[in-house]
Amino acid sequence: MSTDENVAGPAGPQDGGAGPGSVLDLTNLSLSFGGLRALSELNLQVGDGEIVSLIGPNGAGKTTVFNVITGVYEPSGGDVVFAGKSIAGLAPHSVARMGVGRTFQSLRLFLNMSVIENVMAATYGNTKATPLESILRLPRARREEREARALAADVLSFFGQRLAGYRWDQPAYSLSYANRRRLEIARALATRPRLLLLDEPAAGMNPTETHEITELISRLCTERDVTVLVIEHDMHVVATCSDRVVALDHGVKIAEGGFDAVASHPAVVEAYLGRDPEALSDAG
Ligand SMILES: Nc1ncnc2c1ncn2[C@@H]1O[C@H](COP(=O)(O)OP(=O)(O)O)[C@@H](O)[C@H]1O
Ligand SMILES: [Mg+2]
Repeated sequence: MSTDENVAGPAGPQDGGAGPGSVLDLTNLSLSFGGLRALSELNLQVGDGEIVSLIGPNGAGKTTVFNVITGVYEPSGGDVVFAGKSIAGLAPHSVARMGVGRTFQSLRLFLNMSVIENVMAATYGNTKATPLESILRLPRARREEREARALAADVLSFFGQRLAGYRWDQPAYSLSYANRRRLEIARALATRPRLLLLDEPAAGMNPTETHEITELISRLCTERDVTVLVIEHDMHVVATCSDRVVALDHGVKIAEGGFDAVASHPAVVEAYLGRDPEALSDAG
């Protein structure tokens, strides 16, 4: 009856081309915007429990990869297999329900809502109470609200002192920029993702905050059992937390492997030098 069942199907991890232990499997993924080939025959795998970084100069197609995985765009070719099931072309809410969470390059918080309400709102995709039950505060709606609050509190506790309890009832607009980015991650975690896509989580952060974000990404994996695909420009973050790095340019994978090998790969150096000399000195 639910759309969940329609999208899930009987496939197991052995189906759909994903190898054992592979959470995400992009095969020959292509997407064009008019005449522009934003992604070209991209193959990318993320294994269970891995932290994989996606790097590349501005306009390389990194955010487009996230948009195709999460159903914002339908690929013009190739497939997206998540946990053994093809999810290419599914609507974003279906992809989210299956266990793919994401954050955005530009933040999408409800600034007038409190911190904890922002996180609770992210859990409501999974609730069953009707709007009328909620307005009348009938038992099912009250129970779901209690559950959402408990889940939100658990998620927020992951951020320690940065999003400590006294902040939970403050409006999101009162948070610092770095805390807003943390809250955005908390919202994504509240959907209980198996795979989390982070789009430039350290953007605009100072060195201390950036260091904290690096640790946080590692803890997502070890403490929350989340597999992570992260887009990041800060090469210290990429070097520290990645199990593997994939470099894109013009929608094509130009290098893949450990950080040192990818960062010194001639095609990667040229991609950054050719268009974005600043990025290389940042990477130094
Ligand atoms: N909705 C869209 N319509 C047209 N062109 C787009 C759209 N989204 C992205 N692009 C183009 O696709 C290319 C890749 O963009 P993007 O994935 O945002 O790059 P990155 O995140 O690596 O900086 C860019 O040339 C961008 O202008
Ligand atoms: Mg981007």
